[in-house]
Amino acid sequence: MATIQTILAKYRPKIDSLDLELIIAHELKKSREFVLTYPEKTVNGKQEAEIRKLLNKRLRNEPLAHILGHKEFYGLDFKVTRDTLIPRPETEMLVELALRKKQETRNLPTGQAGKKQVMYIVDVGTGSGNIIISIAKAIESKNLLHASCYMLYGTDISEKALKIAKYNAKKNNVDKKIKFLHGNLLEPLLKNTKYQIPDTKYIILANLPYLSKKIYSATAPNVKNFEPKSALYSPKAGLEHYKKLLKQIKILNTKYQIPNTILELSPEQKNPITILVKKILPSAKIEFKKDLAGKWRVCVIELIDLSI
Ligand SMILES: C[S@@+](CC[C@H](N)C(=O)[O-])C[C@H]1O[C@@H](n2cnc3c(N)ncnc32)[C@H](O)[C@@H]1O
Repeated sequence: MATIQTILAKYRPKIDSLDLELIIAHELKKSREFVLTYPEKTVNGKQEAEIRKLLNKRLRNEPLAHILGHKEFYGLDFKVTRDTLIPRPETEMLVELALRKKQETRNLPTGQAGKKQVMYIVDVGTGSGNIIISIAKAIESKNLLHASCYMLYGTDISEKALKIAKYNAKKNNVDKKIKFLHGNLLEPLLKNTKYQIPDTKYIILANLPYLSKKIYSATAPNVKNFEPKSALYSPKAGLEHYKKLLKQIKILNTKYQIPNTILELSPEQKNPITILVKKILPSAKIEFKKDLAGKWRVCVIELIDLSI
């Protein structure tokens, strides 16, 4: 019978140690610390066969998150499948920025004096729901906004992704706080009058597909072969989705205040997105933020003036 140690020794030269330990821990339903502390423990035949099956998947480049079935994001646990993008650490910037901007947004003057202000936070292309669920949890745990004055939405064109997002919202106990809507970008909100409340302020967040054809073709096999192309690739140098979104924001901005739109992008898109924003929303203020690797990653668009 194999021990943890014999499996570790066999696969260590071929698989990253952390991945290896996590896969063994996953199958044994133990922690990684257990695997490291008790290498002499034996595994039964069924467990050994299953561990080998999972390790062989990893050797064929299947992402660890797919093998384990979940991924951590902003300190929370999310189910992921082949229908959703695996949440990336750099996307946590969108959560941080949204939480910071939300407070400033609250203090803006309202259109009609005395009217109660409603704030919509919309995550466009929600995927596994990681962004909007993290925001819901942060608002709840830090008591950042009174429950009655904000609404959280996640939209996606993929019904399969939305199913995972709804599952994740329930798993993280925020399913009552978020509405997940199926459709093209902001269309579900633009088309349905029941979501059109006068005096609403919007914070729009989007990590939409933004890889150009060239960058997508050069992407590593563990991404290209396992994550949905519809979550990664966008025509027109990776900017077609953002162009459509900016046009929808222009329409929305005729009725509502959209003080902040926060977009994740690819570093080389800094100049082209600036040109696009200036063309579609000429009065907007644009700011860029770098990720931890020092690369331009996020574009913050401020739109206060309703008369563009
Ligand atoms: C890059 S993934 C981001 C997923 C998730 N928000 C995250 O940060 O990990 C882009 C998501 O946008 C969705 N999407 C693609 N085209 C869309 C469209 N036209 N309207 C709404 N969602 C779209 C994809 O299905 C995918 O879930």
